Amino acid sequence: MTTRACVIGWPIEHSRSPLIHGHWLAKHGIDGAYTKQEVEPGNLDHFLSSMREQGFAGANVTVPHKEQALVLADHADDAARAIGAANTLWLEDGRLQASNTDAYGFLKNLDQEAPGWDTLSKSALVLGAGGAARAVLFGLLSRSFDDIRLANRTRERAESLAGHFDGPIHLVDWEQRSERVAGCGLIVNTTSLGMTGSPPLEIDLTGASVDAVITDLVYVPLKTKLLEQAEARGLRTVDGLGMLLHQAEPGFEKWFGIRPEVTQELRDLIVANLLEEQC
Ligand code: ATR
Repeated sequence: MTTRACVIGWPIEHSRSPLIHGHWLAKHGIDGAYTKQEVEPGNLDHFLSSMREQGFAGANVTVPHKEQALVLADHADDAARAIGAANTLWLEDGRLQASNTDAYGFLKNLDQEAPGWDTLSKSALVLGAGGAARAVLFGLLSRSFDDIRLANRTRERAESLAGHFDGPIHLVDWEQRSERVAGCGLIVNTTSLGMTGSPPLEIDLTGASVDAVITDLVYVPLKTKLLEQAEARGLRTVDGLGMLLHQAEPGFEKWFGIRPEVTQELRDLIVANLLEEQC
C-alpha cells in the first residue's frame, strides 16, 4: 500500500518539501507519496486528529502551525520542546509524535560543508531572535558552545529568547555586533536581512578570526552580501540551503523507513527550482 505523508501550512503553495521528498521517493523506488495540504489556522486540530483516517503516516509542519502542532501532539522530543515548535510529525501506535529537526538540519549542514567547524572555538555570534534563532541556539548548546553572543535589533526579544535556555548566552547590543565578531568560531545570520526584497545585513567582519565560519540561514539568494563579504575576506562560508535539505531527513526516515542523503543532485534540483521562481 502507498505510504503517504504531506506538508501542512497556510499558505502552502511555495513549499519545496514535495520536491525534496519526491526526489528521495523516486531515488529509493519507494511506493510513497508526499503532497502539500493547505490547513487553515482553525483547522489544525481537526486535521491532526483525522490524519490516520486520511491515510497519512505523518507530516511536516510549517507556518503558522509549528507552535500549535507541538501543543496538540501526544508526545514531543527534547528538541521540539526546547525550540517550542514542531516541524515533523508521525504516528506511532496511534499516538501523534512531534519533533523539531531545524537544529539537526543546521548542524548537519555545517558538519557537511565546513567539517571541524565546532572543534576550534566554542564561541559563536548569533544574529536575530526569532524562531530560527531558537533552533540555532538549541543546536549550539547541544554541541557544548560555551560563549554564545546573541544580538537582535529588538533587545527584549533577545532577552526573552535567552531566558528559554539554561546556558552561556550573552546579550549583545545590535549596534555592537561588529565589535563582537572577534574570537568567534561561528557567525550566524538568522534574521531575514539579506533575503531578496529585504535590506542586506550590515556587519563588519574585519575583526573575525581567520578560521571563523560564516553561515546564513537565508537561501534566497544563495549567496547573500554577508557570505560575499566573508568570502572576499577568505573566510569559510556555508549557505542556508543545506539546512532546508537536511532538516527533511529525519521525517523521511520516520514515514518511509530509509534514511535519505543530501546529495549534490538534490541540491541542484532545488537550486534550479529557486531560480525558476525568481524568473
Ligand atoms: P523566524 O521565525 O524565521 O526567525 P521572525 O520571528 O520573523 O522569523 O524573526 C525575524 C528576525 O529578523 C528577528 O530577529 C528580527 O528582529 P526583531 O526581533 O527586532 O524584529 C530580524 N529582522 C527583521 N528585519 C530586520 C531589520 N530591518 N533589521 C534588523 N533585524 C531585522
